[in-house]
Amino acid sequence: MSDAAPRRAYYVTTPIYYVNDKPHIGHAYTTLACDVLARFKRLDGFDVRFQTGTDEHGQKVEKSAKAAGSDPRSFTDAGSQKFCDLLAFMNFTADDFIRTTEARHINSAQAIWRAIAKAGDIYLGHYEGWYAVRDEAFYAEDEVKPGPNGKMVGPSGAEVEWVKEPSYFFRLSAWQDRLLAFYASHPDFILPESRRNEVVSFVKAGLRDLSVSRTSFTWGIPVPDAPGHVMYVWLDALTNYITAAGYPDTNSASFRTYWPADLHMIGKDILRFHAVYWPAFLMAAGIAPPRRVFAHGWILNKGEKMSKSLGNVLSPHELVNEFGLDAVRYCLLREVPFGQDGYIGRETIIARINGDLANDLGNLAQRVLSFIAKNGGAQVPQPGPLSSADQALIGAAEKLLDTVRLELDRQAFHRALEAVWLVIGDANRYIDKQAPWTLRKTDPARMATVLYVTIETLRRIAILLQPFMPSSAARILDQLAVSARDFAVLAPGQGLVAGTPLPPPAGVFPRFVEAADAGR
Ligand code: MSP
Repeated sequence: MSDAAPRRAYYVTTPIYYVNDKPHIGHAYTTLACDVLARFKRLDGFDVRFQTGTDEHGQKVEKSAKAAGSDPRSFTDAGSQKFCDLLAFMNFTADDFIRTTEARHINSAQAIWRAIAKAGDIYLGHYEGWYAVRDEAFYAEDEVKPGPNGKMVGPSGAEVEWVKEPSYFFRLSAWQDRLLAFYASHPDFILPESRRNEVVSFVKAGLRDLSVSRTSFTWGIPVPDAPGHVMYVWLDALTNYITAAGYPDTNSASFRTYWPADLHMIGKDILRFHAVYWPAFLMAAGIAPPRRVFAHGWILNKGEKMSKSLGNVLSPHELVNEFGLDAVRYCLLREVPFGQDGYIGRETIIARINGDLANDLGNLAQRVLSFIAKNGGAQVPQPGPLSSADQALIGAAEKLLDTVRLELDRQAFHRALEAVWLVIGDANRYIDKQAPWTLRKTDPARMATVLYVTIETLRRIAILLQPFMPSSAARILDQLAVSARDFAVLAPGQGLVAGTPLPPPAGVFPRFVEAADAGR
């Protein structure tokens, strides 16, 4: 491959989930965003690696296991399985699921430790300060304050405790200038921009060395050659991203293909770990930082971040069982501008199902396909010469791939969907205006053209919607008798073939009717 050849690998990661948590819609949200990108890139011809897994060490997990009357090993086996099950349930196409208790990861975490230590960036000292077990984070004096029940809390609201113990430190203070230089030369490293500005100000304000080992508990990866010390769980957890790519074997085909990762998708609560500590650890170890960290917002419920500790979680299972998987996948990415906080609840989902899915897309597919079944010989119609209205609609549909690609390359899922729905709106207006039901008597040849143009537009839309709503898009494509489904079939000159028999149509997006109203 020459240097000029475009990069055709794409490595996208979710954070690894705390194994003591019960999966909720916030977790599903991060993974869904990655799944859509992974599916999109595969259809676009990339060699994709989509990585997820569970974060299994640390004081929080040790405490949770004890509270559950279990030992950490069986506790983490059961907890990890719940996140594995979520993948299947949400139709997520992860290529690998990593557990930080696996030998491949322990080996990798110890290797990065050795590499950083060899570079002179780790020293032995003594930590005395605040620690939040819930966040697994150290906080400075000016970051904590008295909480509602009199106990001190950190910026996230998590209780902090005073910790005093021998500890190894990472020389983070020495990385300030190099981090700032890195952000300056990689303006897209942190997105959205507001998050990038936050990180830059944080780093400019000065960095303190970071405690990277603990001695007051044992559930962690042993620090090499330092009995009694286990690695700070964030250094352990962040390293999963390179473990999964094959580290410490930096010459392996996998590492050379996939590292640096294209994208670490995270929630905004864990930005500092990913955008400050992680690139500093990597650069200290002589490894290139990832290309991008995108911090999305929170799914709120009753105005607060949905989380187990607040007891306000929406379960993916309940939502999916009530509304169907694809509708939930669609709503999560359409309702809230990606990057911002937002609310998702039953009423917002119902409005999107009945509006965008049933009225707009479902209706478009249903009316044109049933019309063809009844009046068009149940086959792809033979188009005649195209009018300017036909060309305008097909032209808008043809431009969609570029638009969606561009928006997804900036993780603007909502804008990608908005662009597709503009064309769905155009197609619905087109069919109203062209009125094939009238043309059936007056001009059957023109009717055939109008039907062709509409279902060709529908084909393009369905191909592009596959990453978002895989099963529903597949059902539309089945009804169009389309078997070739990657983005190569969106090239100019490709289109439905007249005369191809079409199977009997069936509605893909029924309206949602509240159970209490269903019998009326
Ligand atoms: N274990 C760490 C990540 C280590 S990565 C090296 C962790 N795990 S977590 O399970 O608490 O969170 C995982 C992801 O879920 C984070 O990106 C977090 O922002 C996201 N969400 C958890 N609750 C959320 C919402 N209510 N809304 C949106 N996403 C949120 O952090």
